[in-house]
Amino acid sequence: MNPESLFTEGDINQSEQRKNWDLYHDENTRNWLKEDNDLFLHQSLSTPCLDVVESSNGAGLRRLNGKRFLDFHGNSAHQVGFSNPAVIKAIKDQLDVLPFSTRRYTNKPAITFAKKLVGSTGQILNRVLFAPGGSLAIGMALKLARVVTGRHKVISFWDSFHGASLDAISAGGEAMFRKKMGPTMPGVERIPPPNLYRGVLGQNIDNYLEYLEYVIEKEGEIGALLAEPIRNTDVIIPPKSYWKGVREICDRHNILLIFDEIPNGLGRIGEMYAWQYYEVVPDILCLGKGLGGCIMPHAAMLTHEKYNVASEISLGHFTHEKNPVACAAGTATLDYIRENHLLGKVSEDETYLYQRFRDFQNRYELIGDIRGIGLIWGIELVKDRITKEKAVYEAEQLMYACMRDGLSFKVSSGCIIQLLPALTISREELDQALDILEKNLAKISSII
Ligand SMILES: Cc1ncc(COP(=O)(O)O)c(C=O)c1O
Repeated sequence: MNPESLFTEGDINQSEQRKNWDLYHDENTRNWLKEDNDLFLHQSLSTPCLDVVESSNGAGLRRLNGKRFLDFHGNSAHQVGFSNPAVIKAIKDQLDVLPFSTRRYTNKPAITFAKKLVGSTGQILNRVLFAPGGSLAIGMALKLARVVTGRHKVISFWDSFHGASLDAISAGGEAMFRKKMGPTMPGVERIPPPNLYRGVLGQNIDNYLEYLEYVIEKEGEIGALLAEPIRNTDVIIPPKSYWKGVREICDRHNILLIFDEIPNGLGRIGEMYAWQYYEVVPDILCLGKGLGGCIMPHAAMLTHEKYNVASEISLGHFTHEKNPVACAAGTATLDYIRENHLLGKVSEDETYLYQRFRDFQNRYELIGDIRGIGLIWGIELVKDRITKEKAVYEAEQLMYACMRDGLSFKVSSGCIIQLLPALTISREELDQALDILEKNLAKISSII
């Protein structure tokens, strides 16, 4: 087992337990996995692959061996579920009319989608640029912040992930992504995340705000602060006072606040966006992942009218910038969320999960902390509740046991069970997942 990979945003794919999982497959699956392994360039976190999936619907995927599993990972792209029929229809309809738009022209689906996105912010963030992926949206945001402020320095958070491109890993906080990469973008200052369970600055949120201001004043010339308001990977949900404080500090120092809501936007927390929950308006908002309805690659940067100041600079300039099919998928996604009242449904699910998870915590010593909002939850497994030693082996054990029973999720930071179902998941499926989780928590707890 490679210890460095234990504390990243993904789970470990080269451990002993992983080898045992590989034995679980039938011959057909094993053959396809071998082909994949022989063809694709190997990289951490995504190779070798866990399984071969063949079809999808709703909250789940179907394996090549015919078994369906509930996917509580979904790359955080599955807000409206897998193979959402409304999104598929919009895509099919658009394919027949205008499947691609050359960059120097615009098209109705792109304008319609941009309008809807602006509408989803209450017309507050009313300038839009599209990109084919989240990392690219982050790159555009960093560029815009440089143009607006005339300053290139950025503050971000340790262990944060904002994408895998060179600029995104430069600005991000996961050291593992910068390994062997040589010089990255200069001028990035990282600060500790406001993690009130394990935070290095303790449990008083003011400490984190004071530290931030200290760095800004000491370092000088900071142009932007880049952050996920609610961190997806390790499910860090700061109190409202934190982001209000950060906003005030940024305003005092003329620093642009860039919120990365690429994984958690579009209703996952029970509000359309986390900034709305925090009542803190960012200067720039980045969206992605589920923006193409869990089918099309699509991302966006939204900002204010006053920052429409870079007309002589290419912030994006991507071939697929105003892709009509991706935009049609985006419009169908926003319509689906609204028409099916997903925000209210997610809030009801949150109340239900809160009770079930508290009950888990009372019964299983293995659980150190449970945090969540809407349909993003993190269960942190520890060997000891006082020392908070990470239960890394047990977390992995739980993951493979649940996968065998039909529930898939990611383990992040070595010991955090990250649970993100499709927002469309039924109560029955939610119960099914919780039963699988509990059965295996009980089993593992009795072994310890
Ligand atoms: C918080 C966050 N920002 C940005 C990205 C990058 O998005 P993409 O993979 O579409 O480039 C990710 C992807 O996982 C993410 O989780």
